[in-house]
Amino acid sequence: MAKIVQSAEDLIGPVTVPAEAYISSDYARAEQHRLWRKTWLQAGRIEDIPEIGDFITYEIGPDSVIISRAGADEIRAFHNVCPHRGRRLIDTPPGKRNAKGKRMSFICGYHAWTFNLEGRCTYIEHKDDWQGALSDARTSLGKVQVDTWGGWLWINLDPDCAPLGDYLGAIPEMLDPYQLQNMRYRWRKWIVFDCNWKVAMEAFAETYHVFSTHPEFNDFGQFRGWAHTHGLHTNIGYEAPKGMEEDSGKLRVGSGADPRLTTADMQNFTWANANTNTTQTLVDAANRLKDELPEGTPATEVSRHWIQSARAADEKRGVVWPVIAAEHTAKAGTAWQVFPNFQIGHAVNNMLCYSARPFGDDPDKCIFEAAVYELYPQGEAPDTEWDYTAAENWPPVLQQDFANMAAVQQGMKNVGFRGTQPNPYMERAVASLHFNLARFMGAGAPTVMD
Ligand code: FES
Ligand SMILES: [Fe+2]
Repeated sequence: MAKIVQSAEDLIGPVTVPAEAYISSDYARAEQHRLWRKTWLQAGRIEDIPEIGDFITYEIGPDSVIISRAGADEIRAFHNVCPHRGRRLIDTPPGKRNAKGKRMSFICGYHAWTFNLEGRCTYIEHKDDWQGALSDARTSLGKVQVDTWGGWLWINLDPDCAPLGDYLGAIPEMLDPYQLQNMRYRWRKWIVFDCNWKVAMEAFAETYHVFSTHPEFNDFGQFRGWAHTHGLHTNIGYEAPKGMEEDSGKLRVGSGADPRLTTADMQNFTWANANTNTTQTLVDAANRLKDELPEGTPATEVSRHWIQSARAADEKRGVVWPVIAAEHTAKAGTAWQVFPNFQIGHAVNNMLCYSARPFGDDPDKCIFEAAVYELYPQGEAPDTEWDYTAAENWPPVLQQDFANMAAVQQGMKNVGFRGTQPNPYMERAVASLHFNLARFMGAGAPTVMD
């Protein structure tokens, strides 16, 4: 009998994960009750609702939530359903990711019951017909737990959930120094994929695929990466030589004979083909390296100069990066996988975040989204929208990742597939996701390979 993984310790060794969690309809239906209605979910950005009355909606399976600003310091969340006869209160416009707008009251489209920003029902036509039975408790919108961290709005459908701070565990301590709440969207795109949401998330939760899925990057250096577990969550980063701890994070120098040139090459390639993980300021600073540093400058010095020169250039235009100790960068790595379905790829001046949600209760489809953020001078952040984008119109590097997804979904359904065998060092975040999912789902636990 295979031994079921009991603790994060077991994930240091090789484990195998059954395909059930990816392909089973029963499992996908159970996720709705056991997972999505029990966990804290990232549902938007605080800056999406800057003014009183601003609202957005967030959909997870059949559930929909309204998140609105009720006061300068007050954000509220409600179930998006009218208590009268169950009409969804706010419709998502066709083709849009979610609804958004500004209202001082929500009026149901069916019989015009009306709700204020506190969720209290303020108008019912012919209320006396109910003979006094319509108490506030019966007519108010159902409350949803909501909190903020990192500049995001987080919701939890479980009225008895633990506080967000407890849920996030080590993450605030590791990521608060990056001041993620100060970053604003550069672009945001979404798409429906023919794969389970886990397949989509896992395509970005490891560095093992870089050398083969993104071979162009091999010219710029090694992409050997680690993964660590932190309770429900995980993080990943790159190995870096002593004295180059910055290189464990996202701002990495190129390797090879002349790191001045390979750093510039990698930055130009990344900017043109991924449009993420860097900024125009970093690209420009990399392109200046060959003029500002003599030939033969060691990689450590190139790294230091590049980052300092970009930092100074941004400071001149009023963009101040946080200062983070090299040892902290080394521990924080490149990305955090927030259980169950959000990844934060942080850096001092930019970030790349992914999330994936089920599409209905179909195990073979998901809603995938990616957002790129950076620090902007006050008031200069671009206006962005969630842009539904066909795969061929995403940056080419992301298309390389997408190309694996539907094929993984198909492959895992094959009768001859024996379960996944994630790399215990580089893909430990994948194994950890399933270890933690099994705790919520009561099924699908990884087993120790013997
Ligand atoms: S269902 Fe909303 S007012 Fe009737
Ligand atoms: Fe990738």
